[in-house]
Amino acid sequence: MTLPVAVLVSGSGSNLQAIIDHIEAGRIDARITAVVSNKAEAQGLDRARRHGLATVTLPHGDFPDRAAFDAALLGAVRDSGARAVILAGFMRLLAPRFIAAFRDRILNIHPALLPSFPGIRGAADAAAYGVTIAGATVHFVDEKMDNGPIVIQAAVPALPGDDGPSLAARILALEHRIYPQAVAWLAAGRLSIDGRKTRLAPAGLALADLSDAGPCLVNPPLEVGF
Ligand code: GRF
Repeated sequence: MTLPVAVLVSGSGSNLQAIIDHIEAGRIDARITAVVSNKAEAQGLDRARRHGLATVTLPHGDFPDRAAFDAALLGAVRDSGARAVILAGFMRLLAPRFIAAFRDRILNIHPALLPSFPGIRGAADAAAYGVTIAGATVHFVDEKMDNGPIVIQAAVPALPGDDGPSLAARILALEHRIYPQAVAWLAAGRLSIDGRKTRLAPAGLALADLSDAGPCLVNPPLEVGF
């Protein structure tokens, strides 16, 4: 059964775009019920409108306090009919009540190999630290920031000349492969949580060709189409 999902964005929405494209191509069995943003100027909202998707704008500064914003956010997502939530560059922490309402049904993508470099500057912190391998992580969301069970990770080299933006760009290209894949697994009911681990039910599918992606390591492996 097609999974109704809400996507939360604060910025450019390139991960949202990748997910939309895979849904439209029939590779993810999900339907986006609403794209919700705390920023009216988020480019992700324009992307959603271009694809005829419902949008909700909740500028957090317009709310009297955090609790009011949190209530409005939960209301908007619930009212859309979503049964799962995809965080795609959403720069606000979710309230415990929100997380409880969608327990084990919220995904986030983070531009670092968690548990290294959590927080809002993942790729920049990794570049400044001098790592030689960097990457991205899709994980379930729990009450702690960038903490829930990991679904998939992609590793890429960090090069000597890299700064935060150049490393972030190399990571982002892989985000656009692994996030749609993770959403497809969620929509297909193939993910289950066992303590800190996410189990992926096998489906016997062929694997994707990653030869155009440059040096990288993705695990679990991407399936054909991603
Ligand atoms: C990505 O780097 C993602 O890992 C992080 O925020 C950024 C969002 O980019 N959570 P976009 O809005 O999807 O282009």
